[in-house]
Amino acid sequence: MTDPTALSTPALLPVKIAGTGSYLPERVLTNHDLEATVDTSDEWITSRTGIKERHIAAEGEHTSHLASNAARAALEQAGVDPAEVELIIVATITPDTLTPATACYVQQQLGSLKAIAFDISAACSGFLYALEHAKHCVGAGAFKNAVIVGAEKLSAFVDWNDRNTCVLFGDGAGAAVILPSTNGDGKILSSQLGTDGAQAELLNIPCGGSACPITPENAKEKSAVLAMQGREVFKHAVNAMKQASVEAIEAAGLTPGDIKLLIPHQANLRIIDAIVERLEINRDDVFINLDKYGNTSAAAVAIALDEAHRSGRINRGDKILLVAFGAGLTWASAVIEW
Ligand code: COA
Repeated sequence: MTDPTALSTPALLPVKIAGTGSYLPERVLTNHDLEATVDTSDEWITSRTGIKERHIAAEGEHTSHLASNAARAALEQAGVDPAEVELIIVATITPDTLTPATACYVQQQLGSLKAIAFDISAACSGFLYALEHAKHCVGAGAFKNAVIVGAEKLSAFVDWNDRNTCVLFGDGAGAAVILPSTNGDGKILSSQLGTDGAQAELLNIPCGGSACPITPENAKEKSAVLAMQGREVFKHAVNAMKQASVEAIEAAGLTPGDIKLLIPHQANLRIIDAIVERLEINRDDVFINLDKYGNTSAAAVAIALDEAHRSGRINRGDKILLVAFGAGLTWASAVIEW
């Protein structure tokens, strides 16, 4: 695992999260709704994952639209005019188009015409990878501010006939505004990122890219949908998120008891329980919303952060731990003093 703090120059100034936002599409798809289309049950989904329902984007509602709505809410809370935004990073594995980046559409939708914009593809760890980039870009003084967004329209990349995957995922977006930290008003204390490309095939969308283009000839056999070896992914997720959490807490000079709120990736309640047990963090100090949204990949930690913030679960001075894991394999964590 690399230690991004080792890359820091002495000139890197502390940065803070100045505002958060999220957006969920209107349509709700419950476990009972899925019972009508695949051989599954509310009981199976609830007991194996903790998920009860998920939101599904409307036709014509793209990842960029979800992202822009979340970004607008975060900018409003931070008091930053969209026209003054300098950097937009969208973390997504479900871009509007293969090119250009979804962040370019978001730039137009926000009217942030001065901003440079690009995407990060780090699956469920994407929002924390974006946070790390923004920390360095704003902390180094290269940009006055940044908007980072985790946004996914996974419903467009799921095989709705495959009960192994279709029950797990949902659509949504979460965002944060990154500003320099002034007068000790909160800062990112530590962060850890990791990648293991040797396990890339455990969780991927095998077709739709240059390795397996979809053509008129093969379109009936090949499609761009998620494929996953669930049990293997589960084991890696628990180990990597536990390790990333421990390392970020230590790098911040803290102990698990100092963490006021843990916001983990929202994929499976059993994964979260296994991490919490190993970290010796009180279960009441863990934010969970996967029952309402399912796994929204790069959006999950960002949506949870916004909900925790807006519902008063995070207060000035609190130390919070964010941790995520996803395809790649990738993992990431951050300790933030609010
Ligand atoms: N409804 C009913 N039965 C289902 C089902 C569904 N939606 N999905 C799978 N099953 C069946 C399987 O076919 C299997 O049946 P079999 O024993 O007759 O072969 C049985 O349930 C058990 O399947 P298994 O895959 O062993 O279940 P599991 O306890 O590992 O749970 C996951 C499956 C996917 C929920 C779990 O492995 C998981 O959460 N993995 C990590 C996924 C994840 O987090 N991915 C994203 C990472 S960011």
